[in-house]
Amino acid sequence: MTKKQDLAWWQKTIAYEIYPKSFYDTAAQGTGTIAGITAKLDYLASLGVGAIWITPCYKSPMVDNGYDVEDYRQIDPSFGTMADMDELIAKGNEKGVRVVMDLVFNHTSEMCPWFVESRSSRDNAYADWYIWRDARPDGSAPTNWRSIFGGSAWEWCEERHQYYLHTFAPQQPDLNWECPEVRKALFDIANYWADKGAGGFRIDAITYIKKPAVFEDGPVDGEDGLSAVHAATANTPGILDFLHEFKAAVRDGRDIFMVGEANGVGPDELGEWVGEHGVFDMLFEFSHSHVPMGEAELWCRPIEWKLTDLKRVLAESQANTADNGWYPVFFENHDQPRSTVNFFRCEGSISDKAKALGTVLLTLRGTPFVMQGEELGYANRVWKSLDEFDDLQTRSQYEFALSEGRTEAEALAGCNRFSRDNARTPMQWDASANAGFSAATPWLPVHDDYTQVNVEAESADPDSTLSWYRKLAALRAERDELVAGSFEELMADDEQVYAYRRQGEAGAAVVLANLSGEEASYDAALVADMKLLAGTHGSTEPGTLRPLEAVVFGD
Ligand code: GLC
Repeated sequence: MTKKQDLAWWQKTIAYEIYPKSFYDTAAQGTGTIAGITAKLDYLASLGVGAIWITPCYKSPMVDNGYDVEDYRQIDPSFGTMADMDELIAKGNEKGVRVVMDLVFNHTSEMCPWFVESRSSRDNAYADWYIWRDARPDGSAPTNWRSIFGGSAWEWCEERHQYYLHTFAPQQPDLNWECPEVRKALFDIANYWADKGAGGFRIDAITYIKKPAVFEDGPVDGEDGLSAVHAATANTPGILDFLHEFKAAVRDGRDIFMVGEANGVGPDELGEWVGEHGVFDMLFEFSHSHVPMGEAELWCRPIEWKLTDLKRVLAESQANTADNGWYPVFFENHDQPRSTVNFFRCEGSISDKAKALGTVLLTLRGTPFVMQGEELGYANRVWKSLDEFDDLQTRSQYEFALSEGRTEAEALAGCNRFSRDNARTPMQWDASANAGFSAATPWLPVHDDYTQVNVEAESADPDSTLSWYRKLAALRAERDELVAGSFEELMADDEQVYAYRRQGEAGAAVVLANLSGEEASYDAALVADMKLLAGTHGSTEPGTLRPLEAVVFGD
């Protein structure tokens, strides 16, 4: 049985995702700064957070809010300076909050000097650093692949008289990992940040780095006549060889962690990706996000789902990391809608939903990754028109919905439901103007609920979502089984309650979360001889759960 003292620091802590543009603005400019993160380190430490994953803050034209990197060794001036970043890493280390950098290694910005050079001719030093292909005889793109952000995944380059591949936006050309110099350049960048004191890395879009040996058309899967690029390029044979090389060059011998973003890897494949024989310490795989969104990730195609669908994939991930590797538990990130909307089909208070799912987030086996604002109980914002959104994927999903024959109102409803901007609205610190996020008009509108849903108000309210997170964080720190204990699912077929037992060396806990809007029941024998450690609704009657009630029992 796993003992807590044998686990690495990043297995025992709580991780927190920061979208720096929306976290805290110390420059009165409407967008967040690195100094703003440093200013809030005590807040993060008070939540039991030991690692902060900061989405890209490198120099960038910001077409995709930093996921289009121009220079991996510079901080974008909108966020501050390298001195600010050094200070954040140093102060964070002092307070036990380590900085996790986001490595965008599938592609760069079109403004990255490597690409500027590569596109200039077919015989320069960087000529092979990206994925270049000739046109078909009729001048059309080499394949019918659709980029993840819509439209063809190929862009014509007049200088080279060739097309280049972009899995995401045309301004995000894909790197050619087959080229050894590319791999070396990327590993050097990771080592640069590890040497600076980063505590780990989140590795972006990593499943797309290995392209298939033969490029051919895929089956048309939309009215636009194209085929999703990832059907051809995600998790392609040979990818793990590149990643073993990455691990040996960067991870080995360091007390850091690497978590890969791995769309296209299923829970049954985790064994090859994490753990002793794997390439990463943890893997963000998306089988549970796909339950409400669908694997095609097309927001205009609604999906019917049941709680047992969600529980089944989570149980698989738990089983596949029980003896091998470690699981990063998450229900939100900057690409997902707010979980209080995404994972619930019932009416009910947002705060109750946030507490119920937050209970699961903080007590499943693995390292919880909290998305900024999730601990406050954010809902999706109500977006009144397409113009209010910033995210480029939202625009392309809207267009795609129209191309599928949806009305404008239906297309907008899909964006309200799934837009990535739901997770990106400014952090709500207090009830003052702009939720205390910035002295200037924020780049994205603040959520209407900010006068109640904010750090200051929720800190003062013992029944708030934030107080519940703090309580559970304290419980995790106290009760070893909530960190190191095994996971055994209970009531797997139940459509209302998510229930499981965490068995540790010295004690056990049983978690029961009613994720439905109706009263639910369970066999009180599951918690016989146990006491209530925490309950969202105060004292509880063993055997029944009120709507959206969550409880943690322990012996
Ligand atoms: C990842 C990021 C997403 C970004 C994309 C392209 O999926 O999480 O935000 O748009 O990669 O870099």
